[in-house]
Amino acid sequence: MPKGDKLLIVENLRAYYPSSKGLVRAVDDVSLEIREGESMGLLGESGCGKSSLALALMGLFERVARFQAGASNDPTLLKQFKAGDKAPVEDRPGVQGKVIFRGKVLTSMTQEELVEIRGKEISLIPQGLTHALNPQHSIGHQTAEPIDIHEDDARLIDMKRRVLEYLGLVRLADAGIRYVLDPGSFSGGESQRVLIAMSLIAGPYLVIADEPTSALDVTIQRQIMEVLRMVKEEFDVSTLLISHDAGVIAELADRVAVMYAGKIQEYGEAVQMFHHPSHPYTMGLMASFPTIAMMRMKAGGKRPRLRGIRGDPPDLTDLPSGCAFHPRCDYCIDICKTETPEYREVEPRHFVRCHRWGEIKQE
Ligand SMILES: Nc1ncnc2c1ncn2[C@@H]1O[C@H](COP(=O)(O)OP(=O)(O)OP(=O)(O)O)[C@@H](O)[C@H]1O
Ligand code: SF4
Ligand SMILES: [Mg+2]
Repeated sequence: MPKGDKLLIVENLRAYYPSSKGLVRAVDDVSLEIREGESMGLLGESGCGKSSLALALMGLFERVARFQAGASNDPTLLKQFKAGDKAPVEDRPGVQGKVIFRGKVLTSMTQEELVEIRGKEISLIPQGLTHALNPQHSIGHQTAEPIDIHEDDARLIDMKRRVLEYLGLVRLADAGIRYVLDPGSFSGGESQRVLIAMSLIAGPYLVIADEPTSALDVTIQRQIMEVLRMVKEEFDVSTLLISHDAGVIAELADRVAVMYAGKIQEYGEAVQMFHHPSHPYTMGLMASFPTIAMMRMKAGGKRPRLRGIRGDPPDLTDLPSGCAFHPRCDYCIDICKTETPEYREVEPRHFVRCHRWGEIKQE
């Protein structure tokens, strides 16, 4: 696929968990696209649905949601699934909508078909190091897993060579000696390097990295950012970088999607989003990160006032009416409380979900 072609297209994607309180609307009518060679950042406060979106893109969400309903043995959860097929799409648990990847509709595929794609064409570096690596297998063995699963004719000797090559590329210290050890002997930063190597080894088109730096201290975060920058510059791969930290996204993303209460509120060029955000939530987010304030000042902007967004994110089982951000928004007017704003393309490839788009200017 030539650079600039659409690699991933997401259309009206919904992913709802069943829960005893009602449906958790974790991904709510999300549409976006990632092009070949692009690095996209997904930004939003904790609990807004970023990891759930990653699971839905990988075709893993439905399994988690159904397993949960089955395992809980809670009649309310099971009822939500049973009633689901007849209910309108906005009231159904599980995944609705479309994910198209390299022309293939992933949301229509069976789990067997998806296994062929996961780890080979799209790979996920999951959030949280603790559960990502199996404590009982050596890191060499785990790094080789994607080739072992997807390449029938892979020879043991070639697999070892490739494992050492990729562990070397992510600069894992003494990889040639330590690849036989289990994950317990590796620090958090080293485990993250192993996960990055594992995500790349089968030559995917898209790597989804879910909060790759958040469990790490500042020095190690910096080192992992350098590895991710090397991946961006040297590998022919598109990336979806998920973080609640705008500073992390600002360093690596070409385009940014800002998520709130399961919905994308603004999506556009990184430069535009950081320097001239259009949505009040994006404005609020950008004003709460010192790294973004510094970046704006360096680019010639005036010294911004640092402040957080008032109030708390909503309960996704009981969303506010109209625009879900309205109870926290300084620009809220009557219509915001009753009507959900549409997700509009206000300029080419710039989408905003706000009734007052164009009227509000960043302070
Ligand atoms: N298995 C689950 N069952 C029910 N609700 C869930 C489940 N997993 C997540 N949620 C809820 O779905 C919402 C979105 O969660 P998600 O993990 O996708 O958010 P996130 O943006 O990735 O947050 P963070 O930045 O903390 O990682 C939250 O309200 C969360 O409590
Ligand atoms: S629609 Fe209204 S409440 Fe929502 S972000 Fe825009 S101005 Fe604020
Ligand atoms: Mg998450």
